[in-house]
Amino acid sequence: MEVEPGCDMYKEKEIWLDDEKRKEQLDKAANNAKTTFFGFQRVPRERKADRVLQHFDSVAQHYDFMNTLLSFGIHHLWKRSAIQMLNLAPNDDVLDVCGGTGDLAILAARHVIPNGRVIVYDINRAMIQAGLHKVAHKDIASCIRYVQGNAESISFPDRHFEAAMVGFGIRNVTNMKKGFKEMYRVLKPGGKMLCLEFSKPTFLPFRRLYDYYSFYIMPFLGELIAGSRKAYTHLPESIRMFPLPDELSALLMEIGFSQTTYKKLTNGIAVIHLAIK
Ligand SMILES: C[S@@+](CC[C@H](N)C(=O)[O-])C[C@H]1O[C@@H](n2cnc3c(N)ncnc32)[C@H](O)[C@@H]1O
Repeated sequence: MEVEPGCDMYKEKEIWLDDEKRKEQLDKAANNAKTTFFGFQRVPRERKADRVLQHFDSVAQHYDFMNTLLSFGIHHLWKRSAIQMLNLAPNDDVLDVCGGTGDLAILAARHVIPNGRVIVYDINRAMIQAGLHKVAHKDIASCIRYVQGNAESISFPDRHFEAAMVGFGIRNVTNMKKGFKEMYRVLKPGGKMLCLEFSKPTFLPFRRLYDYYSFYIMPFLGELIAGSRKAYTHLPESIRMFPLPDELSALLMEIGFSQTTYKKLTNGIAVIHLAIK
């Protein structure tokens, strides 16, 4: 069922959810409400994971290329900056939740080689497979492993990792709070959690430009190059429903993380959150 016309999300000028609606979404997801959102579409809760799977099945082959094209290559800088903030030590074991094609894992692996391990943990096999070639025959191959699984029930024991990270993935997890709680559980005390996610640009004229780019240019390029307008409409929609940096920090503290900090990138288009167990 589509969101009702007249709902704030459909007002052309305010496509970003307001504070109350964002909180409502977060609470509903955490409390296992019957419906949830897939982009701006309301869907039965149990259908969301399937929709997310189909979405990433449809984009997997073009995922890396489209990321670079649509962000003008800037996502590589954001990811590098995120891994620098994580300040990994040699021998650390790191979990890359929603790891997809493994960009963050590859960067992390360079810091923990030769005895550390980085696990690319993702629910979608096609996404994992699309990234395998970036690691094969490289020196880091020996320390990267792949596990297919759901971020809401991470298949690792408690207190296992020195660091856990999630890049542009937590938005897709039906119960985001559960995902973060799972990351908390698998971290060793003192372990670091990093979340790199899209957010709301702070400078209004820039935000308007970004909105135009997101809702007109991105879907057009998505259709032209990856053959899916729908997939590249879902992306900007889901970004506009995601908690703002202070709200996400509050959620992380509620879960038990401490020393939560964040850094805005490119006027807030993306944000790096860092927190300690
Ligand atoms: C936008 S991609 C991000 C990939 C990668 N981290 C990056 O930064 O390029 C999001 C990934 O999250 C994965 N994902 C979505 N829901 C998930 C879940 N519940 N559990 C694990 N992975 C999930 C998708 O399969 C997809 O590979």
